Amino acid sequence: MAESIAFSKSADRATIYAELAPQIEALISGETDLIANLANVAAVLNEAFGFFWVGFYIAKDGELVLGPFQGPLACTRIAFDSGVCGHAYSTRETVIVPDVEAFPGHIACSSAARSEIVVPIFFEDRVAAVLDVDSDRLADFSADDSAGLEAIARIIGRYCRFA
Ligand code: SME
Repeated sequence: MAESIAFSKSADRATIYAELAPQIEALISGETDLIANLANVAAVLNEAFGFFWVGFYIAKDGELVLGPFQGPLACTRIAFDSGVCGHAYSTRETVIVPDVEAFPGHIACSSAARSEIVVPIFFEDRVAAVLDVDSDRLADFSADDSAGLEAIARIIGRYCRFA
């Protein structure tokens, strides 16, 4: 297993996502444990982008349950139809929220979070988890983030075995 990741520190996010994708694939394709893999993906995204919060909510027992993450402590359980995470889960689509205060039903785990992106992770054609990234800056996420994070979500869905 690689002990470090390499990326162009001053490059734009699209370039960095493209550099990370094959490294994340190499990292998780040789490991079968779901939690170990999600933990390393959260660590890689945090190291590369310094996001305020980045992590996973896993669909289990009829709700979204907090999984591996990097950042301040977070809510542990989210209903399938609640918040930005629940919206991405139930619509099966990536959600970009430029201003969380303007999103009805946003769940504020931290008052410092200003914008957010949530990407569904598909496994056997169902949403098995969501990848959630929060920023402490307004409108911090663009189509580059959705494309980059969706590519990573596809890699996770290909190699990780969700229950
Ligand atoms: N803001 C999310 C909840 C999760 S935290 O941001 C980590 C939401 O509205 O679903």
